[in-house]
Amino acid sequence: MTSYKELGLVNTRDMFKKAVKGGYAIPAYNFNNMEQLQAIVQACVETKSPVILQVSKGARDYANINLLRNMARGVVEYAHELGCDIPIVLHLDHGDSFETCKECIDNGFSSVMIDGSHLPYEENVALTKKVVDYAHQFDITVEGELGVLAGIEDEVSSETSHYTKPEEVEDFVSKTGVDSLAISVGTSHGAYKFTAAQCTRNADGILVPPELRFDILKEVEKKLPGFPIVLHGSSSVPQEYVKMINEHGGKLKDSVGIPEEQLRKAAKSAVCKINIDSDGRLAMTGTIRRILDEKPAEFDPRKYLGPAREALKEMYMHKNKYVLGSAGHALD
Ligand code: G3H
Ligand code: 13P
Ligand code: ZN
Repeated sequence: MTSYKELGLVNTRDMFKKAVKGGYAIPAYNFNNMEQLQAIVQACVETKSPVILQVSKGARDYANINLLRNMARGVVEYAHELGCDIPIVLHLDHGDSFETCKECIDNGFSSVMIDGSHLPYEENVALTKKVVDYAHQFDITVEGELGVLAGIEDEVSSETSHYTKPEEVEDFVSKTGVDSLAISVGTSHGAYKFTAAQCTRNADGILVPPELRFDILKEVEKKLPGFPIVLHGSSSVPQEYVKMINEHGGKLKDSVGIPEEQLRKAAKSAVCKINIDSDGRLAMTGTIRRILDEKPAEFDPRKYLGPAREALKEMYMHKNKYVLGSAGHALD
């Protein structure tokens, strides 16, 4: 058993308390490799933002849990070397079973999500409580989920969104003891969040997605005052990167993400963790495609992964400063 405390990591408890009070959200960025991790940490140190490093089940299978744990240890030292000991959480994203959560808890993670959102309510309660009871023995925080997002949640796919029912949240939190709750208010996973039919077009012909269900969020807040709420599926799908991918041999369909202003509005409320993965994929893929297209003779991976890392860093800095509002809050 490796404790996250030995690695210099923290759980989400204090972070969320401060974020709810301060009206900002902590960035929860997914990573699968060194360049993504470097970009996240550089951006968060430079903007003095706390950060949640997210590892999905797919990322664990891809990168190996022992490597990931030691990368997290390295990142704590790297942040120190870069000049700011920002609080860093290592979090399991969309844990699908007690066993997956336990493996992460036993291997240095400081926070886990148990996603029982696709289960019948009572089964979700029972599974989530089992994870909480185990995790809390080691002071590890747990995120649960109520309501199902449209799109793909790891291997669980759902075509339509089942919004969170505000009347269930109090019962769920008190029965399970979770530390934070992911809810479904209209965000969805992946780069294709809305069909053109779900959107309207503005005067410039740009697709505008439907508003998030702030009414549901408000109801949830009323039922659970001050309780940390999480938004998954919160990529904004930057059009510059969709364009870059398609201009350099890619074939992405038209897609729009969650508008930044809406995420900003959510971050000012009880939403204190915002999950972003797809935007990182788009920025990285766009930059790599552009460089390989412009310099076909290049075969040194550092020559395209380095600029991709830089593009990621710029994007994360922008989000911390102008979307999540977490910049400057590392040492609160
Ligand atoms: O919510 C899902 C995340 O974007 C992780 O995706 O399972 O492909 O790593 P992944
Ligand atoms: P996006 O696909 O919108 O980036 O969402 C990521 C996410 O919710 C990870 O849990
Ligand atoms: Zn998610």
